[in-house]
Amino acid sequence: MALHNVNVLLGVTGGIAAYKAPDLVRKLTGLGANVRVVLSPSANSFVTPLSLQAVSGNIVHQHLLDPEAEAGMGHIELARWADAILIAPATAHCMAKLAHGFADDLLTTLVLATTAHIFIAPAMNQQMWAAQATQDNLNILNERDITVFGPASGEQACGDMGVGRMLETHEIADMLDQAIINQPSLPSSKSHPITVQPLSGKHIVITAGPTREAIDPVRYISNHSSGKMGYSLAVQALAMGANVTLISGPVDLPAPLECHLVPVESALDMHTASLHAVADNCDIFIACAAVADYRVIDISEHKIKKNTDKLTINLVKNPDILADVAALPNSPFTVGFAAETHDLEHYAKDKLARKKLNMIAANDVSQSDIGFNQHDNALTVFTAETQFILPKQDKLALAAELLKIVAQEVSKY
Ligand code: C5P
Repeated sequence: MALHNVNVLLGVTGGIAAYKAPDLVRKLTGLGANVRVVLSPSANSFVTPLSLQAVSGNIVHQHLLDPEAEAGMGHIELARWADAILIAPATAHCMAKLAHGFADDLLTTLVLATTAHIFIAPAMNQQMWAAQATQDNLNILNERDITVFGPASGEQACGDMGVGRMLETHEIADMLDQAIINQPSLPSSKSHPITVQPLSGKHIVITAGPTREAIDPVRYISNHSSGKMGYSLAVQALAMGANVTLISGPVDLPAPLECHLVPVESALDMHTASLHAVADNCDIFIACAAVADYRVIDISEHKIKKNTDKLTINLVKNPDILADVAALPNSPFTVGFAAETHDLEHYAKDKLARKKLNMIAANDVSQSDIGFNQHDNALTVFTAETQFILPKQDKLALAAELLKIVAQEVSKY
């Protein structure tokens, strides 16, 4: 436990996630840290100083110009006491103030007055996180070696889906502990940036959703793929620091704001878009789309009239996008999906070898509560050497688990 006897100053700013602050204090003290809490002016609308005092065992600091507090441990003393300053949740407003050196309340003043390393766990609405101003501020903070934990993605208090949720308290406490293990000099040094995002700097191309194969100007052949798994992978890959290109067939889902969305209709469109995106320094290609196996040979220029009793439509096989990407001379790390109704392992391993993939994620579509068009899924992931079982869970959580395995395997690639 690297946090043993480390003085952690926990700054809590005014976001809905502030209600988790007492739990975070417990997690930090559980790892041996000495914790003092500073509340921003708006934070006590979400959490009471009394509860934080009870869990930290120390008086909670709130005001810059409080004669009583200054007579106890004044703000400069507090800044010197801290080995590490952790701000969780850090709102967009707090990030802006830190980026521009404001010192108009106790917490921001302490940040300027300390030599301790600063860690922040942002929490805000996904649109606010994606806003150019927030991203510019984030870049400034990164350049200044402030360590950013998260944010995570998922459903938000406001009902939106996307990146901006504060990480879970145990994750924040563990990351702080880990950061100090990795960099023992950290509590008093600002010279080492830490990468906590496992896919940071990677370009990931993901295909998602169904394809539509036109029959005539108003009809098409398609399937029931909802795109949820592919979109969940895009959301989680972004949260893990990747640049994401999402090549999507027609679905009824909002794409995460920060990804590069390439909307396509047919398998041929998806094939062209995929090869194009992969040529742009792609590190990982994940084929999650339910690509139509066949397309119509002669798409009718006009709406087909129902003036015959029988109608024959001739189909031709579509190119295999995933196999074509895997066959490229400098192919990225390739991940395929296999939906099977029986002999899961046999067919998945066959696809892994036949399409020359690095990894395949297989799911049993004979079970009606998982997989196609469902909220939940379960996967067995195979590489040439090993296998991982990811039990039934919602697709967003499953995407995070799968990407952790991908990140681990890519580091060996
Ligand atoms: O061969 P099968 O269709 O079962 O393989 C499934 C995997 O291959 C999925 O990852 C799917 O996205 C990908 N695929 C593809 N292009 C096709 C057919 C499948 O990329 N034409």
